[in-house]
Amino acid sequence: MRFGNHQTASLVALTLLGAGTLWALSAIAAVAPQAAAPAKRHAWDNPKLSPDQRAALLLAAMTREEKLTLVFGYFGTDFASKNYSAPAGALQGSAGFVPGIPRLGLAPQWQTDAGVGVATQGGAKNKRARTALPSGVATTATWDPAFGFAGGAMIGAEARSSGFNVMLAGGVDLQREPRNGRNFEYGGEDPLLAGTMVGSQIAGIQSNHVISTLKHYAVNDQETDRDHGNSIIDETAMRMSDLLAFHIALERGNPGSVMCSYNKVNGDHSCENAFLLTQVLRKDWGFKGYVMSDWGGAHSTVKAANAGLDQDSGFPFDDQPYFGKPLAGAVAKGQVTPARLDQMAGRILRSLFAVGVYDHPVVARPIDIAAHRAITRRDAEAGAVLLRNTGVLPLTGAAKRIAVIGGYADKGVLSGGGSSQVYPGGGQDGGNAVPGLKPTSWPGPIVYFPSSPLAELRKAMPASQIDFADGTDRAQAVALAKQADVVIVFANQWAGESFDVSLSLAEDQDGLIGAVSTANPRTVVVLQSGGPVLMPWADQTAAILEAWYPGSAGGEAIANLLTGKANPSGHLPMTFPMALNQLPHPEQPHAGDTVYSEGATVGYKWFDAKGLTPLYPFGHGLSYTTFAASGLTVQPSGAGLVSSVTVKNTGARAGADVVQIYLEGAGWEAPRRLGGFKRVVLAPGQSSRVQIPVDPRLLAVWRDGWRINAGTYRVYAGQSSRELGQPVSVRLAARSLPGR
Ligand code: BGC
Repeated sequence: MRFGNHQTASLVALTLLGAGTLWALSAIAAVAPQAAAPAKRHAWDNPKLSPDQRAALLLAAMTREEKLTLVFGYFGTDFASKNYSAPAGALQGSAGFVPGIPRLGLAPQWQTDAGVGVATQGGAKNKRARTALPSGVATTATWDPAFGFAGGAMIGAEARSSGFNVMLAGGVDLQREPRNGRNFEYGGEDPLLAGTMVGSQIAGIQSNHVISTLKHYAVNDQETDRDHGNSIIDETAMRMSDLLAFHIALERGNPGSVMCSYNKVNGDHSCENAFLLTQVLRKDWGFKGYVMSDWGGAHSTVKAANAGLDQDSGFPFDDQPYFGKPLAGAVAKGQVTPARLDQMAGRILRSLFAVGVYDHPVVARPIDIAAHRAITRRDAEAGAVLLRNTGVLPLTGAAKRIAVIGGYADKGVLSGGGSSQVYPGGGQDGGNAVPGLKPTSWPGPIVYFPSSPLAELRKAMPASQIDFADGTDRAQAVALAKQADVVIVFANQWAGESFDVSLSLAEDQDGLIGAVSTANPRTVVVLQSGGPVLMPWADQTAAILEAWYPGSAGGEAIANLLTGKANPSGHLPMTFPMALNQLPHPEQPHAGDTVYSEGATVGYKWFDAKGLTPLYPFGHGLSYTTFAASGLTVQPSGAGLVSSVTVKNTGARAGADVVQIYLEGAGWEAPRRLGGFKRVVLAPGQSSRVQIPVDPRLLAVWRDGWRINAGTYRVYAGQSSRELGQPVSVRLAARSLPGR
């Protein structure tokens, strides 16, 4: 929730604090991001000690008041209409701030959103100009953890150079509901793919000694009624779907923090849900970092603290400053024990040591924009998915006249809205290439990055005449299309935080595409969307490129893909349905209880279980070259498997293939599951033998612990969830897996 008319944002709390507290904070927060390294004079400064030992030493030196300081977070930005001023030392325009404790050498925690780069709050007077990665699902569509890590390392470096030491990234809620407005921030519909890719990004961010979160824990799978909505899901199904994605991301990324979500899960708000925060996260998964609430996600003091919430974030968004004075009171009364307060503060300290925040104080530095732009462009190129191509792509010099239509392609590329919004420039507009589109305030503004696909195409094809029509005048667009050798229509779906979307393109873009592709069948559609959209015109087009939200260098990436300078290699991280009635919940997301009766049968698993034909299946993605897989073998490896397969580039262009291992077992939630994957870059004619391990949990079912049933399992090396080669069978004995 943010500036604007968000109904639940309440700042009652501020008045309860009183002016004296704010004054004191200004003094505490005098430690600016540029602060020098703490003088090495404390016992806990010794880097040879473990994070646990160092945290214990520091904790022992703290007063109760200091511990309470650590568990209570401020909003980082002034909020004029609510009469809230962020404490001195906070970075204006940022998400959050937790004061430091100078006498102990402890710097403040400066918190910034989010997963595609260093964001600025929409209402902030001055935006910070930063590099944006493509959306989370775009990076996931590379199916290559190296892209996840590289992008994470880049945005983590920008966070650090901007004076932040906590990045609120790591969104991994499963795409259960294709209309969820925040799907673009996440990692798609499969627990293995999402967990692996998001975990890699977290590891990349933290390689900068910047703490990353993993969020929004858990089952925060729609935005409608997100503050009070109740996700009802059976524990077994949750363990095998949403929670598995979180667990894999946690193992791979080792985040310093987990952010609990706004919604309720089976009746309890996530941030006071003992099952999620204590049973699963601590007892089953052994998480040692701290849990922070989402901004306004805390709903109580005693219940939340005792359920496992360690830090109350952005307190002005809560109804009460729950972990401020009320927590002090609850500890004094013994409703929250001093030992529990120690545990809360100790976990925060542990992460500050473990991730290196304490030993590597942030220092504001200039950012190498050119180098970072190359990183985001490569990510956008590798994540775009060529959904359809009858041969019109890549464009060649034979296309003498090209018509580009719609989607503000003359101005820039679209981005997703909400707290994760990165701005390409400074000032109030933040360098928005198409300012003024509604909504201009929360959950807007709608931001286009000034990387124009039209301008980039003109640069790449100087011998062709490339004309533009903005698409608002249908007759003009059709006339232009008729004269062209090839037409490229840009179709956009804006998605963002706090609302869910329609799968049908707005403003009758379907009508525009229909008219233009009827006028000229050599029509290419470039989609910029948060996730799947319905495409009643798909068969009428010559090609479709799903570019997602392609980030700061999106225009260059799109031009490179269309002209063949880059060869498409992205694969869908989610199913594109043909129609709403194919979904487990065809009706638009609603308030109140959402009963996920489909359980773990999410995405392609649902489509396979019900025998439905999607528009484009999970894992689908074309290339300008061709690949062949052969020689699949499968060996037991530990409790899991390892599969080996030879993949060959059988075409005439260099390209990257994604080998997808699918598993088939009896008694599962669905006929098949993704068991492993690997992206391989191959020159024409080149082949490579790749080994792909299969995590034993993907062969198992949850029966109060992971259990592999005895039986015959089939393993496929596929090109998508619907293009499977010949299977190899493997017999497995019954066994229970260690851990939970
Ligand atoms: C979002 C979080 C974000 C936080 C801080 C919330 O509205 O749900 O994802 O990190 O705000 O801006």
